[in-house]
Amino acid sequence: MANVVVVGSQWGDEGKGKIVDWLSERADVVVRFQGGHNAGHTLVVDGKVYKLSLLPSGIVRQGKLSIIGNGVVFDPHAFVAESAKLKAQGVTVSPECLKIAENTALILSLHRELDGFREDAASNSGTKIGTTRRGIGPAYEDKVGRRAVRVMDLADLDTLPLKVDRLLTHHNALRRGLGHPEVSHEAIMQELISVADEILPYMDRVWKILDDKRRAGARILFEGAQGTLLDIDHGTYPFVTSSNTVAGQASPGAGIGPDSIGYVLGITKAYTTRVGEGPFPTEQDNEVGEFLGTKGHEFGTVTGRKRRCGWFDAVLVRQAVAVNGINGIALTKLDVLDGLDEIKVCTGYRLDGVLIDYLPASQGAQARVEPVYETLEGWKGTTKGARSWNDLPAQAVKYVRHIEELIGAPVALLSTSPERDDTILVTDPFQD
Ligand code: GDP
Ligand code: IMO
Ligand code: MG
Repeated sequence: MANVVVVGSQWGDEGKGKIVDWLSERADVVVRFQGGHNAGHTLVVDGKVYKLSLLPSGIVRQGKLSIIGNGVVFDPHAFVAESAKLKAQGVTVSPECLKIAENTALILSLHRELDGFREDAASNSGTKIGTTRRGIGPAYEDKVGRRAVRVMDLADLDTLPLKVDRLLTHHNALRRGLGHPEVSHEAIMQELISVADEILPYMDRVWKILDDKRRAGARILFEGAQGTLLDIDHGTYPFVTSSNTVAGQASPGAGIGPDSIGYVLGITKAYTTRVGEGPFPTEQDNEVGEFLGTKGHEFGTVTGRKRRCGWFDAVLVRQAVAVNGINGIALTKLDVLDGLDEIKVCTGYRLDGVLIDYLPASQGAQARVEPVYETLEGWKGTTKGARSWNDLPAQAVKYVRHIEELIGAPVALLSTSPERDDTILVTDPFQD
């Protein structure tokens, strides 16, 4: 029996939420270990839609322990709003079933504002990242800069003013430099004090809970957000998010040893999408992209932005298999390809006339690579809603097998619609 970490193998929105929800039936604990409410995970259970950003996707199932690990950047206001929305949908969100690590860094209004100031300024110079404007980058900067306010600080009103002073010395210097008004000490103190009572009941020593659970033989499911190509080190820098999104991050981001991570499941869309700016070699800014976007409902959960769409890029996913140590993939949205006469798959790139089989690290080279495609036949029947391998058209099976070969990892799960149960199990990651 293994624990399982779920990671995105592309640019996010691969369907991690759906797969984590499906897998969480087999898990005891579901843990978020990086990112924040920049994530948008959509679950569909018997036609009912749940949209999660900050809370682990395991929260919708009764009897599971959900954990927000220290690797997350935590916006208390977003937490209160999301909890209220879920409660209104009948989901239990209580300190019994949800724990927030005491050493988690907070996202405050000044982080959100700074994110926005920078993106607005960069829009004028054509250098914006296209962030979700949730304050993710600025909050991680403060964490690494050792001036973050953390969840536990809400409980210590003696030291909180000193922490806020330290934070504001930095932020007000930045704000003055960028031509924006300063923030007052009182405003930030008020912001923190106003949420403390709603957050503190959930605060706990998560490393200890996980250690106890591990020793008791509980199954732990680590839920990654974003995707490998958005990883701060391994992604298309600087068009990335500000955390490590790869599987290894589950260990420091939750407070558990690396040998507890277990099986690495890469969630992989049967084509490719990206939201925000940055290179995208197989992007189809044409009728193919329109087809995929319309059929796949490719609009961002968090910002509502239209996702850019393109063909499956085996080069990127093969690289994701390597940097995450992916043991198997969950292939999602195969049904979106139903009805296409031909399907292209990128198998390599041409960079300045030379054939390469990896994504180069430099921004300039990433922008210059040209995809080399193989063309496969589409299929006539439908895969939508298929719940057994035998229900798949032969040509669809051929597509799946070919992807496995190109990326060097097997399909463990296949998803054929947004619905929880429209999922085909090939290998149980918890049993592998
Ligand atoms: P995440 O960020 O990785 O959790 O993915 P999102 O939830 O942002 O985006 C994936 C979208 O595709 C959601 O709207 C899901 O409901 C939907 N989805 C997931 N799996 C499938 C699938 O196999 N087929 C189809 N058609 N939609 C899917
Ligand atoms: P899920 O978990 C897709 C993208 C943003 C932007 C870049 C940086 O739903 O897969 P940030 O606000 O993090 O500083 O933005 O990262 N991005 C995502 N794209 N899915 C996500 O999460 C994303 N989270 C951030 O669009 O390009
Ligand atoms: Mg998403």
